Amino acid sequence: MSSVRCNNLLEWYGKKARKLPWRETSDLYHIWISEIMLQQTQVKTVLPRYSNWFEKFPDIASLASAPIDELLKSWEGLGYYRRARFIHRAARIIVSEHSGVFPESFNAIMALPGIGRSTAGAIASFSFGQPTPVLDGNVKRVLKRWHGSPETGDRQLWTWAQNAIDVSGNPADWNQAMMELGATICSSRRPDCAHCPVSWNCSSAFQPVEPCTTKKTAVKHAHWQVTLYTCPTRGIWLTRRPDSGIWASLWTPPIIELASPPEEKPCHIHMLTHRKLHLYGDLSNLSPSGEGQWFSSLESVALPTGIHRLLEKYGVAS
Ligand code: ADE
Repeated sequence: MSSVRCNNLLEWYGKKARKLPWRETSDLYHIWISEIMLQQTQVKTVLPRYSNWFEKFPDIASLASAPIDELLKSWEGLGYYRRARFIHRAARIIVSEHSGVFPESFNAIMALPGIGRSTAGAIASFSFGQPTPVLDGNVKRVLKRWHGSPETGDRQLWTWAQNAIDVSGNPADWNQAMMELGATICSSRRPDCAHCPVSWNCSSAFQPVEPCTTKKTAVKHAHWQVTLYTCPTRGIWLTRRPDSGIWASLWTPPIIELASPPEEKPCHIHMLTHRKLHLYGDLSNLSPSGEGQWFSSLESVALPTGIHRLLEKYGVAS
């Protein structure tokens, strides 16, 4: 990729990019948290959580010393709670192995829980200007189209991404610009080639969009009965989900998986990536048994969004 091509994209990025708070800082802690939040969650969902996060956890030390439940609570609404647990583990490693300072070497960054090559590339380029590429879903799509090669595998994509960043002269802005192009112009369904700064040398410009090549995983349906034990004085009975699987380590009312859908309509349907959860609320005034505890307030408990919605429908304050 010649530097002329790079200049086009960088110039466009300088003029048109969205102003996002994590683009205004080179602070490692802020960049790290934003990149983890952005791994599977849209910018508009991340924005309010990003600023709240730093009010609650102003530095890495405060993260490492906080109980995991506080992180999970602050993660509410972002989904994929594994990421909050990775952050907690990483913060503790940073305190114990790096004297509380976020590491600067690419390999040390990548060795932290929850950080793969692409996220490490983002962090190292944004913070230190290292020429380490990002290769997330958006960037992959941009590169495949640019090279006119929809079937290209990751190994070749990493090579293209590395070559491009090497000649860009500005690794931080290059990575941001590639992500911005993928998110705003080179979208998967309707690329806006008329406004694309690199359409003039893109192999796929103004061509019909190639059919999606990733295989669709069939959505599985699960039917869950959610038993709501409530008590005017003690509140609501919740149990902690197991450490792995759906909603791992979050708090929910007791859930029973039903072998087949009941006749009644679900009270709430919650979509996960490959699963559709049909939730059936069941109010009970019996005494709960098994593990769990009463909560008179849900203010500091991390509940999955689907459970919040169900509780709202039952008028249980959450
Ligand atoms: N997605 C992942 N990283 C991002 C960033 N820095 N800006 C916008 N979207 C992103």
